[in-house]
Amino acid sequence: MAASRTAQPQAKDLGPTGRPLPGLPEPEPLLEHGPARIVAICNQKGGVGKTTTTINLGAALAEYGRRVLLVDFDPQGALSVGLGLQPHDIDATVYNLLMERDVTPQDVLHKTSINGMDLLPSNIDLSGAEVQLVHEVGREYVLGGVLQPMAPDYDVIMIDCQPSLGLLTINALACADGVIIPLECEYFAMRGVALLMETIDKVSRRLNPKLAIDGLLATMYDSRTLHTREVLASLVRGFGDKVFHTVISRTVRFPDATVAGEPITSFDSGSAGAGSYRELAKEVLQRWRQPGVGHGG
Ligand SMILES: Nc1ncnc2c1ncn2[C@@H]1O[C@H](COP(=O)(O)OP(=O)(O)O)[C@@H](O)[C@H]1O
Ligand SMILES: [Mg+2]
Repeated sequence: MAASRTAQPQAKDLGPTGRPLPGLPEPEPLLEHGPARIVAICNQKGGVGKTTTTINLGAALAEYGRRVLLVDFDPQGALSVGLGLQPHDIDATVYNLLMERDVTPQDVLHKTSINGMDLLPSNIDLSGAEVQLVHEVGREYVLGGVLQPMAPDYDVIMIDCQPSLGLLTINALACADGVIIPLECEYFAMRGVALLMETIDKVSRRLNPKLAIDGLLATMYDSRTLHTREVLASLVRGFGDKVFHTVISRTVRFPDATVAGEPITSFDSGSAGAGSYRELAKEVLQRWRQPGVGHGG
């Protein structure tokens, strides 16, 4: 991947996290693609913005010319629905890919409405995998075995995890290069984060030494309320530079886009929410470009 030739923009004012904004460069187009950086979007708490982040960060990265594969790894199938698929219309899902040897990625892969972004969909079938995998040899590595052959075709593979730290999530962490943790700017956001960090640490020690924390993402931010500002400040106190400069504000445009089955970047391209996910895309691309972090940028 080519080193950035654009002059580094100057640091500007303080961002919502209280740190100087870095002034992120426009991502350069890629001349060649792959192998993908695999990123798990993970938090065992539900409703924190995992699926919303997977869709919209994926779409923003695709706008910047990255080839993106999204993996719906939640039996609720919200990612698939959010991209316009109806659960009963899906013939083959990630479940078939995990459990059946004669199913190929091509049998399961869907093109999305976003150029350059594909989807491996899920539905409730996937809930069976959690139970069935328990008896498999190498049960933590089954998803990795499915995704590794697909990595050369993409720049980024993002896995939308279910809200639990069960075997499906462990599979995602065991094959990921990085993990992004969305956290809702509400009281109790930090509850459970210690357990999540402990789990990530265990996976990186026992199963996957390359696993890195790519960043913590503050979501549902509302600058008008004192308590969301306090929650964000406490996140920064606890996790410092791991917290992304970009925060995602609370806006009804996100649920609206979900209902429309589209990313906000196309549903309401000029909205603040779309802009925030584009900023996040720039920020992750910059983090991934740093030495030792590896591919994807
Ligand atoms: N920044 C936001 N502002 C307002 N609503 C949001 C925002 N992000 C997500 N939502 C909505 O909150 C709900 C939960 O978000 P979702 O991404 O599905 O969370 P998770 O995947 O962690 O369960 C969804 O209805 C979604 O549309
Ligand atoms: Mg979800």
